Amino acid sequence: MASASAAAPAVSFQPGRRAPPPPRCTHSERGVSFDPGAAFYRSDSAPGRDLAVLAATLHRRRRPDPSAPFLCLDAMCGSGVRALRYLAQAGADFVWANDASDALHPVIVGNLSRFEPVPPDGQRRWVVSHLDATRLLAERYLRREYFDVIDVDSFGSEAEYIRAAFLALKIGGLLYLTSTDWRSARGYGGKWWRIRN
Ligand SMILES: C[S@@+](CC[C@H](N)C(=O)[O-])C[C@H]1O[C@@H](n2cnc3c(N)ncnc32)[C@H](O)[C@@H]1O
Repeated sequence: MASASAAAPAVSFQPGRRAPPPPRCTHSERGVSFDPGAAFYRSDSAPGRDLAVLAATLHRRRRPDPSAPFLCLDAMCGSGVRALRYLAQAGADFVWANDASDALHPVIVGNLSRFEPVPPDGQRRWVVSHLDATRLLAERYLRREYFDVIDVDSFGSEAEYIRAAFLALKIGGLLYLTSTDWRSARGYGGKWWRIRN
């Protein structure tokens, strides 16, 4: 079982990347403007993101040490809309936004850039990476970097990521799982599956 860590995780910088252009903000979700770019984004899934923000907000208020930095990790962030909402609406002090596709880098960075990556207080607010989710979570665990909230929003079943996610979660942390198809982490599809098959 992971032990809790209060400090924000150490992050490695990637020098040489150009500052992204400001986001075009073609979309707005619950008052948060962003550009989905070429990322997978479904406006119909907004209620799932609302619940994620609500659950994270409640968790932030009820966690054992409310004075510690509140750290969120979005393992499959797409455009970064969830990561952005964790910063803007759930009171996250730091968000790690990851998507396997590095083609999404300018979109994600552009969307998060409304928050200074490193504000004057020196506490980094966000980082973007492009790793397989299991590798990212395992690396965080090996570095003893644990998160209050881990969000895994996968295509298909999210079940294969649960073990790695628990490793990188603080004790008593919140693991928020969603998937874009019908198959749930329970391993079966429920009533709808039975009707269709
Ligand atoms: C359902 S979309 C994410 C949508 C986003 N969370 C949202 O709310 O709009 C899933 C994302 O996971 C990324 N992805 C797929 N497999 C991955 C993996 N093994 N590790 C990390 N990212 C992955 C895809 O590139 C895609 O952007």
